Amino acid sequence: MNSSESSSVNANIDPANLPSHIAIIMDGNGRWAKKRILNRIEGHKKGSDAVRLIVRTCREIGISILTLYAFSTENWQRPKTEVTALMSLLKNFLKSEQKEMLDNNIRLNVIGQIEKLPEDVQQVLHKTMTLTKENNGLMLNLALSYGGRAEIVRMVREIATKTKKGEIDPDLITPELVSDFLYTKGMPDPDLLIRTSGEMRISNFLLWQIAYTEIFVTETLWPDFSKQEFLQILKHYQRRERRFGKV
Ligand code: IPE
Ligand code: IPE
Ligand code: MG
Repeated sequence: MNSSESSSVNANIDPANLPSHIAIIMDGNGRWAKKRILNRIEGHKKGSDAVRLIVRTCREIGISILTLYAFSTENWQRPKTEVTALMSLLKNFLKSEQKEMLDNNIRLNVIGQIEKLPEDVQQVLHKTMTLTKENNGLMLNLALSYGGRAEIVRMVREIATKTKKGEIDPDLITPELVSDFLYTKGMPDPDLLIRTSGEMRISNFLLWQIAYTEIFVTETLWPDFSKQEFLQILKHYQRRERRFGKV
């Protein structure tokens, strides 16, 4: 990126106070389609364009980790046709983005029950993660078949098993140790959580990790989410005073 491109991107944003880790609940694809009397799947298709745009923007401004809630453990309960369409969109998205990820030093990572995804989707995911594993620019962290409670249950089981075997001393279980048994091991907690489409809820996303995350909810439906609005939210974030319980 040349300097004029980077300064236009960074307009009014303080590069020294960027969130390291941004998490997004990409909600509103169905409502976007409904407003246009389209099938919900059309909303998901349009939503994948917004994903591309936001990934690109995060890469340009130098965000370290972008965690996108793409499919929750509860989303399996949607109609089979919608689940199938989402899986196929995901597969196509990964295939079409491989080159961009390689060209732009983006590393793909997945959090969630990857083993529950269809075999062909798992294959593309593993392939893309392997191809991009040496990249050290933006980490694109996709939450797939992800649920915060399921993640916590998995952590408790693993710690309990190790404790039973005598590998972990119960007195030495700390918040840091717990974090090491989550999918997000080694990642800083999100600094900023954005939810599109106006719902004031967490919907089982990153329950442990968002203890001190700044939350921003916008009414904009995910397929309409723009680079401009994203940068505006970053500006708002920079005006927040993060206190972490202190004075
Ligand atoms: C978010 O959009 C995408 C997924 C959950 C996969 P929705 O499909 O939840 O859209 P709304 O909430 O029905 O508008
Ligand atoms: C959250 O959106 C999950 C994802 C964005 C993948 P939902 O649409 O599933 O959440 P609820 O049902 O509004 O809580
Ligand atoms: Mg929704």
